[in-house]
Amino acid sequence: MMSARRLFPFDGALPNASIRRRIRYLTVASFVAVVVYLAVLNRPWAHLDNIPHIDILHHAPSTTSKHAIDKLALEAQVQFKQLLGKRSDTLEQAASRYRERRGRHPPPGFKAWFAAAKNADAIVVEDFFDRIHHDIGPFWALDPKRLRRMIKDEQHFIRVRDGKAWFVSDHLELRQPWVQLWTELVQEMMPNLPDLDMVLNVMDETRVLVPWEEMNRYVAEEQRKRRVFHPSEAITEYTKYQDEKRDDDDDDDDDESAIKVKWVSGEEHKYWDHYRVTCPPDTPGHNVSSLEKLNSPPTYPTHPMPFTVDGFIQNFTASTDPCLQPHIRGMHGTFIESVSMATTHSLFPIFSGCKLPRNNEILIPAGMILDSYDLFSGGESHGGDWASKRNEVVWRGVGSGGRHKDDNWWGFHRHRFMQMMNGTTISRLEDGGDAAPSFNLSDLAEYQTEMQRNGSLGKWVSSFSDVAYVNFECFPRQENGSCWYLDPYMELRGKIHMKDQYGYKFLPDIDGNSYSGRFRAFMRSTSLVLKSTIYTEWHEDRLVPWAHFVPFDNTYADIYVILDYYLNGHDDEARKIAEASQDWSEKVMRREDMMLYVWRLLLEYARVMDPSRDRLGFVDDLKD
Ligand SMILES: *[C@@H]1O[C@H](CO)[C@@H](O)[C@H](O)[C@H]1NC(C)=O
Ligand SMILES: *[C@@H]1O[C@H](CO)[C@@H](O)[C@H](O)[C@H]1NC(C)=O
Ligand SMILES: *[C@@H]1O[C@H](CO)[C@@H](O)[C@H](O)[C@H]1NC(C)=O
Ligand SMILES: *[C@@H]1O[C@H](CO)[C@@H](O)[C@H](O)[C@H]1NC(C)=O
Ligand SMILES: *[C@@H]1O[C@H](CO)[C@@H](O)[C@H](O)[C@H]1NC(C)=O
Ligand SMILES: *[C@@H]1O[C@H](CO)[C@@H](O)[C@H](O)[C@H]1NC(C)=O
Repeated sequence: MMSARRLFPFDGALPNASIRRRIRYLTVASFVAVVVYLAVLNRPWAHLDNIPHIDILHHAPSTTSKHAIDKLALEAQVQFKQLLGKRSDTLEQAASRYRERRGRHPPPGFKAWFAAAKNADAIVVEDFFDRIHHDIGPFWALDPKRLRRMIKDEQHFIRVRDGKAWFVSDHLELRQPWVQLWTELVQEMMPNLPDLDMVLNVMDETRVLVPWEEMNRYVAEEQRKRRVFHPSEAITEYTKYQDEKRDDDDDDDDDESAIKVKWVSGEEHKYWDHYRVTCPPDTPGHNVSSLEKLNSPPTYPTHPMPFTVDGFIQNFTASTDPCLQPHIRGMHGTFIESVSMATTHSLFPIFSGCKLPRNNEILIPAGMILDSYDLFSGGESHGGDWASKRNEVVWRGVGSGGRHKDDNWWGFHRHRFMQMMNGTTISRLEDGGDAAPSFNLSDLAEYQTEMQRNGSLGKWVSSFSDVAYVNFECFPRQENGSCWYLDPYMELRGKIHMKDQYGYKFLPDIDGNSYSGRFRAFMRSTSLVLKSTIYTEWHEDRLVPWAHFVPFDNTYADIYVILDYYLNGHDDEARKIAEASQDWSEKVMRREDMMLYVWRLLLEYARVMDPSRDRLGFVDDLKD
């Protein structure tokens, strides 16, 4: 699965592993091919390709054609079983799988890390850490001395020296609460970490966007540098930091002085133009500019996305990638207008709680999800039995997503979601009214339910949906809490505490200014999580879409067909995913798991920043 969900154009494994994976892939592919072939055999009319897809789906006898969601769920089970089969139980297994997949020795400190993982009953599957290597890999192309100079004058960082960790900031007033949470997490690993300085992104927005051509060179360079050297060559101690005084005067240009990267700011409505240079030249996003006109309804794609089957997301990683779907630049607040922007096109080592698929930050678990504050987690309550829950959809949150205003709000994703889940709004649309500036009912056959075709979609949505803002976050903010440009279309409703939201079966989760802080809590609940995002987080390699959550598209156009499936006759399928997500997240998304992820990441980071990095390695298991 992990190889199938890769984000960068490189394959992290050595040839023999990649051949093995290719064989596995071929096995799965031929299985899928047989299934598809049988499906075609059962549909003698399939050669009539000009017949709208929907007719085939709906006229086919249900005994011969399984619903696409059933097939996707089945594939997800296969992927998940394969993943579980790769668990490492011993240090030797873990180290050898590391060498096979990464083409290097594990970093020094790997033994203590593995012991801590065992101690915490963590499930160690090498693939779970792919993200670390995607994020750190490109830094192998830069000189470690240079990297240290790049972060030398930074203002917010966690410092580790002699087995102790603390937070350093020049601007106390800028401190975010999650900085403390990150520092506490790093302190839990002490005294097991080498010296390092870890620069933190304290903004909501993501920061680093290296142009595609340059990133490609870095990735190739990293691959070229991989080497599993003879154990006798290994250095097992990281180089200590010599803390000189920080550069206050810029007069010395010796090779110790700070290198400053250039930050672009004040172009909050042009983020797409900075983003698209990271898109591969053959993707549709690469050549299209930011939208000039924002005060009009968004433009939808006229065909289903290539990462879908029958309209449902098959490749979740691809579905998060704006390069593949340039319409997202007009359908997500991140690209319409963010609240702030400070971005660079230079590869720069900065740690962040989330990022867009082509951003180059180093991911750590977001501060908000480390928080035990029960607004975001529901505290100890994870909800009751499936059978006791309301057969409904609930969502509460604020109108975040970027800086929306009276002349740009149409495309903001949260506003679209509010309107699309509002039955009254849909009914007015169905009656020919002009009720919904933020969306249109899709005319793609894939996304049409029976209810849409017979004009009762609004009525149906009203019967199960309780979706509303608790605060508009209007710009400029209105004192009395209302929002003149949104008021005609939506209204605020009271907060619903997380633990009460768990009394509903269906919990959709959408992006805010960036990632959504509730995802982990939702996963640990007994309800079903429906997830849509353009952001990537630390856990992506350990969750399997359709096995642990239900993915939906960032246009939200598939939300009705998905809910139609689960609400109308597939309650058991919904319950199974809800139970699996709770069970699995209690195994691989615990606080211990986040700590272990960051610990391994920091060993990797300390090595790539170390002047002796080419010979730093854990080799104990190879010596007798
Ligand atoms: C983008 O433009 C470049 C030249 O400007 C061209 O070579 C490339 O094929 C274009 N890519 C796409 C996807 O249209
Ligand atoms: C899923 O999408 C990613 C990103 O576009 C791609 O690299 C990967 O090959 C895709 N996986 C499959 C199985 O198509
Ligand atoms: C909906 O479709 C109609 C007809 O194509 C178009 O005039 C209108 O602008 C669209 N509205 C939205 C919100 O896309
Ligand atoms: C539309 O279709 C749905 C689902 O088949 C059905 O429950 C509903 O009664 C129909 N409504 C109308 C107005 O025909
Ligand atoms: C809020 O204030 C605006 C003027 O700023 C006014 O037009 C609106 O009616 C007020 N709304 C409420 C609910 O009081
Ligand atoms: C639903 O839509 C109607 C009609 O546009 C609007 O009056 C109402 O406030 C909306 N409800 C919510 C919860 O936003």
